[in-house]
Amino acid sequence: MHPLEGKRFVVASHNEGKLREFADLLAPFGFEAKSAREYGLPEPEETGTTFEENAYIKAFAAAKATGLPAMSDDSGLVVDALDGAPGVYTANWAEKPDGSRDFGMAMQKTEDALQKAGATEPAQRTGRFVAVICLAFPDGEAEYYRGEAEGKLVWPPRGELGFGYDPVFVPDGYDKSFGEMTAEKKHGWKPGDAEALSHRARAFKKFAEARLGSA
Ligand code: IMP
Repeated sequence: MHPLEGKRFVVASHNEGKLREFADLLAPFGFEAKSAREYGLPEPEETGTTFEENAYIKAFAAAKATGLPAMSDDSGLVVDALDGAPGVYTANWAEKPDGSRDFGMAMQKTEDALQKAGATEPAQRTGRFVAVICLAFPDGEAEYYRGEAEGKLVWPPRGELGFGYDPVFVPDGYDKSFGEMTAEKKHGWKPGDAEALSHRARAFKKFAEARLGSA
């Protein structure tokens, strides 16, 4: 296992929502973590068919380009009644012909698919958010940390907070959607906390315990 020398690495993402969450999660650690956007790196095409493959594509591209270790997150919403869709294509469901993204449209598409599948009762609307963090090095070595948050899809969307599909996802054990939760509630986690709620915070907790000396 390569050491994380020099306390510097790249956060290989261009997604503002993810970058905000990683900035919060990384704040307690003394690492310099600049984003792929700050390095002016292009967004690689995500050609994989698993979260792990796409996480590796993003992390390795940034590590190779900068010569620094890079961490990425590939994530998505896995809906049981839709045989796991949108899954690795979660971001693609928001894509418009002009290349921009519209998550209102993506949430509507998910709801339409659930209605078509006859999934109208809460028990039929189970799913999970998945996040896979990949830490990759310029020589291609890589490691993975996976976090999942189980919950239910709700309609109509609730709340204005968070990003992406947050307004239609209510995690198990809560009445509020991620879109109604503060950042602290959704992905707040700091060294010493036994639990994390969101998929990203759960994946990050494993990464921090293995790599950032927070165990
Ligand atoms: P990718 O990992 O860049 O391929 O995109 C993952 C997509 O999943 C994002 O664009 C979001 O739409 C969605 N997603 C991932 N994590 C979250 C989250 O925490 N809340 C809401 N949507 C999310």
